[in-house]
Amino acid sequence: MNISKPVHGKFSVAPMMDWTDRHDRAFLRLLSRRARLYTEMITTGALLYGPAAGILRFDETEHPVAAQLGGSDPDALAECARRVEACGYDEVNLNVGCPSLRVQAGRFGACLMKEPELVARCVAAMRDTVKIPVTVKCRIGVDKDDSVAALHRFVALLENSGCATVIVHARKAWLSGLSPKQNREIPPLRYNVVFDLKAAFPDLEIILNGGLESLDAAQGALDYVDGVMLGRTAYKDPWIMSDVDEQFFGDPSAVTDRIEVIEKYIPYIEAQLAEGVPLNAMTRHILGLFNGVPGARAWRRYLSENATGLGVEPGQGAGVEVVRDALALMQDHAQTNAA
Ligand SMILES: Cc1cc2nc3c(=O)[nH]c(=O)nc-3n(C[C@H](O)[C@H](O)[C@H](O)COP(=O)(O)O)c2cc1C
Repeated sequence: MNISKPVHGKFSVAPMMDWTDRHDRAFLRLLSRRARLYTEMITTGALLYGPAAGILRFDETEHPVAAQLGGSDPDALAECARRVEACGYDEVNLNVGCPSLRVQAGRFGACLMKEPELVARCVAAMRDTVKIPVTVKCRIGVDKDDSVAALHRFVALLENSGCATVIVHARKAWLSGLSPKQNREIPPLRYNVVFDLKAAFPDLEIILNGGLESLDAAQGALDYVDGVMLGRTAYKDPWIMSDVDEQFFGDPSAVTDRIEVIEKYIPYIEAQLAEGVPLNAMTRHILGLFNGVPGARAWRRYLSENATGLGVEPGQGAGVEVVRDALALMQDHAQTNAA
């Protein structure tokens, strides 16, 4: 078996459906050169049998970037992992944490925590096919199967199957009765379970996820685990990403102010518009950038009202001038506040 050394790194942004698409990742990359970024979950069915054109597409600037797969058929996952690697991704991750009913109907996501041997076979099949790290993102348990012993047994099987890194969302999931959103809020966070997991599996890279709402909180967890993964906070308040390189990697920050981030994003927006991508596919990810500073509401409102263009012919929707105008508003705000 082809065992790889863990190469995950200390800080990553979580896979989030509808949120961490390639436009969002290109934007986040401007804020941090080092954070590892994840795609939204891509199902084996969509990749193997759907209209796959572009589904794995990413921008070269996005590295280090991981693709997350959803599935439970070892052969299908191995073939998808092969495609992920061929596209140039740095890691392939298996989703064993999503509790949605749709995902359960496909027998993957969090319900797979009840089938540890199958997950181990999936990981081994991917591991035997690719050289990039194969990683798993899971919960601490599901339904009433939430004992520490069950989690440790699951993780031991992962380790034996060649999994490089386990990312653990530190709450259990209820497979029925709660929506995916409630499953990210209601089951209590149990960081100690993840810290103990690292102590029990010192050779395995363990990444903590769930409820980390600041970089300081994330930093504190590094005393106990190898890395941290932030989801909602990084998406809703993306400016915090600008401190990641310094705080977690000892590198200089990629950017020093918010306006500079947008100035750097504009060439990307222009290139996408030229390919017929509607403006709002990019601007929806940047609405939170000015959160907490004067003018934040005007920024959000201006972009929301003017960056339309979904459903129109390529080239006919709103153009990049909407972003430039919104930026001018923010420059005015900055000058007024400095005066
Ligand atoms: C809108 C949204 C979509 C998500 N989609 C995925 C997904 O595709 N795959 C996955 O493993 N987790 C997904 N998650 C869960 C996150 O990756 C993460 O585990 C969860 O939000 C907890 O981390 P946080 O408290 O830092 O947000 C999603 C979360 C959100 C908010």
